[in-house]
Amino acid sequence: MPVKPEPLSDDSFRSELDFADVKGQESVKGAIEVAAAGFHNLLMIGPPGTGKSMIAKRIPSVLPKMSFEESIETTKIYSVAGMLSGENPLVTRRPFRSVSHTASGVGLIGGGSVPRPGEISLAHNGVLFLDELPEFDRKVLETLRQPLENGEITISRAAGAITYPCNIMLVAAMNPCPCGNYGSTIKRCTCTMQQVSKYLGKISQPILDRIDIQTEVAAVSYDDLTGSGKSESSAAMAERIAAAREVQRERYKGTDIRSNSGITPDKLHDICVLDEKAEAYMKLAFEKAGLSARAYDRVLKVARTCADLDGSEVIQKKHVARAVGYRSLDRKYWKNALPL
Ligand SMILES: Nc1ncnc2c1ncn2[C@@H]1O[C@H](COP(=O)(O)OP(=O)(O)OP(=O)(O)O)[C@@H](O)[C@H]1O
Ligand SMILES: [Mg+2]
Ligand SMILES: [Zn+2]
Repeated sequence: MPVKPEPLSDDSFRSELDFADVKGQESVKGAIEVAAAGFHNLLMIGPPGTGKSMIAKRIPSVLPKMSFEESIETTKIYSVAGMLSGENPLVTRRPFRSVSHTASGVGLIGGGSVPRPGEISLAHNGVLFLDELPEFDRKVLETLRQPLENGEITISRAAGAITYPCNIMLVAAMNPCPCGNYGSTIKRCTCTMQQVSKYLGKISQPILDRIDIQTEVAAVSYDDLTGSGKSESSAAMAERIAAAREVQRERYKGTDIRSNSGITPDKLHDICVLDEKAEAYMKLAFEKAGLSARAYDRVLKVARTCADLDGSEVIQKKHVARAVGYRSLDRKYWKNALPL
């Protein structure tokens, strides 16, 4: 029996969990706002119990609406995976796929004797959430490199190859070391340097390079946690994110680009126009902070999103500074920071 597609209703975008429950952590929420507005990958790093998992679970509540086209694309994948039901014939909410570190490579990427899309494709046009990132098998994580770059995954098998789309926003969370307190100004890390290096080393540089927005999640102060101060709601964040996404929709009309994270190299410099001070700052950051060529392109795209959230057509120094700031953790933790 043919099923009539349900209209896309506003209701289907709501999620019960709200950012209003998260006390403090303003800078983390800011990072999430930029990530969701431009569809950039995000990494949260910090000690246990600081709210990383809690925050990640609230991301669906601020994601912009799916376009009809996106909805159809994602629905096709769920159809191939046999995951559509009569009541749920059309995927109208951006997927949020939380994957356990015990997941196999096939489960994550797709494949098998009867090839199925993996979690990365089930997350198409939405979020793939990897909590406790270093607990994943390093080989499994490495398989994410190509799909994260290309937005599609090709599974080869005897009878030929199948390609599934996987245009995702990767969200990852992790402790910086086995005890969790490395880098903390409050609690002492009890790990040896070797243990810290080994732990961080599970995340390779090429994977880190693909995560545009890296943010530290520090312990919330007692006052913030117990104070009556109201935290901003998901609705307020979602409104700014939707406005920034609308700017992008207009800008990319008639192209294959959907959001700033998808700007193609040939259009990068036409779209990401820096004013003079921003240009000078970018040059300084590139030389002094030793940004790689890949990081340079990605910083520009994030700066574009910061400017869009700010309602600015031209990218200013403050936007570049914010974007560069989101790249600083790999230097603090992975590169020249050992020992702290
Ligand atoms: N900022 C916060 N505001 C309100 N409650 C918080 C906050 N941070 C943590 N909590 C409380 O602490 C609990 C644990 O937080 P959560 O599991 O998100 O920490 P985590 O950073 O993921 O820790 P781990 O590194 O151990 O996984 C939450 O369920 C919540 O009850
Ligand atoms: Mg957690
Ligand atoms: Zn430690």
